[in-house]
Amino acid sequence: MLKYVIFLCSFIIMLLLTKVIENRFENEHFKEEEQSTNPEKMLDVQFTMEKTQHLHKERSINHRALDSINILRIPLRKRSKRIVQRRPDEITIFAITPTYKRFLQKAELTRICNTFRHVKNFHWILVEDSRNKTKLVEHFLSTCGLIYTHLNIRTPKPLRRSRKQPRWAKSRGVEQRNLGLEWIRKNVNPNQTKGVVYFADDDNTYDVRLFEEMRSIHGVGIWPVAFTGAARWSGPICRDGKVTGFHNNWKPWRKFPIDMAGFAINIRKIISQYPDASFQPQVRPGLMETSFLEQITRVEELEPKADNCMKVFVWHTRTETPVININGERQLIKKGHPSNPSVET
Ligand code: UGA
Ligand code: MN
Repeated sequence: MLKYVIFLCSFIIMLLLTKVIENRFENEHFKEEEQSTNPEKMLDVQFTMEKTQHLHKERSINHRALDSINILRIPLRKRSKRIVQRRPDEITIFAITPTYKRFLQKAELTRICNTFRHVKNFHWILVEDSRNKTKLVEHFLSTCGLIYTHLNIRTPKPLRRSRKQPRWAKSRGVEQRNLGLEWIRKNVNPNQTKGVVYFADDDNTYDVRLFEEMRSIHGVGIWPVAFTGAARWSGPICRDGKVTGFHNNWKPWRKFPIDMAGFAINIRKIISQYPDASFQPQVRPGLMETSFLEQITRVEELEPKADNCMKVFVWHTRTETPVININGERQLIKKGHPSNPSVET
């Protein structure tokens, strides 16, 4: 009987010991993973380093670039729930978006932010066309759930259109895209970070598949854009992985008759190969894409994407300006009963 009890007791003790050891091992393992291979954490470190480096450089060298990096300060566990998991060894999409203050701004930004949140390894460089960063955009970015960099630069007066001029009289987003490129050149090390840069205007409509197409770009990738070039779509005509021509009904003589949303570039090209390539403010509207692409590539080198340029993953859309509401609000202000200004739109 005693033998039996001793046997049972040792069995229970053994079982308990095994459990304790197992538990401990699991904890250790988890801790290690959190510390060394948690991609979120590694990204955090990387970007925090960038931030310090960048701010240091900014103070000592460049006073024009009024940028700052804003990393989400959400605890890691919460953050991984909100953002799709990232891996530092995967290709990062750097999207440069010029934006400016207007009635529709927050709605447009919300719409594209919701799209971008579905893209993994995504870094949004949002550049305000303003003298100072606005509270609205600052607040918006801090809640939209993306890794982002918030910059600003006001388009110089000679490059701005007057109130009487039509929208297309002057190119838009030029200085802002250049500042975004400058930030990438200063803050991203192409030997450590693989990436692609894309100029994503704030009013277009993006299919998340577009960003997956971009990840395999070695030089400059290209695809069609709907509702551009005075046609249902315009862009490259491709055969067997080469661009054989362009479909376009607006200034078709341009060397690269495509829209800003119709191409993306490997960051190595921007940082190492062509560190001086930039958008030229003096060129005529419509020639911005051509004058930029001419500096970095040739038509023969372009890499067709989107099923040999047969699929549309981006639309050049424009949200209707709510004129009735703008005028109505003016009336309310005159009457002294404006819509509560604390309610942000
Ligand atoms: C077309 C192209 O799709 C643009 O990429 C190109 O910059 C533009 O023509 C041009 O010719 O400059 P469109 O739809 O006519 O675009 O231009 P917008 O969408 O009004 O502006 C392009 C970007 O610049 C947007 O992200 C917009 O928010 C920004 N923008 C516009 C500014 O930063 N400041 C402005 O005063 C106006
Ligand atoms: Mn647009």
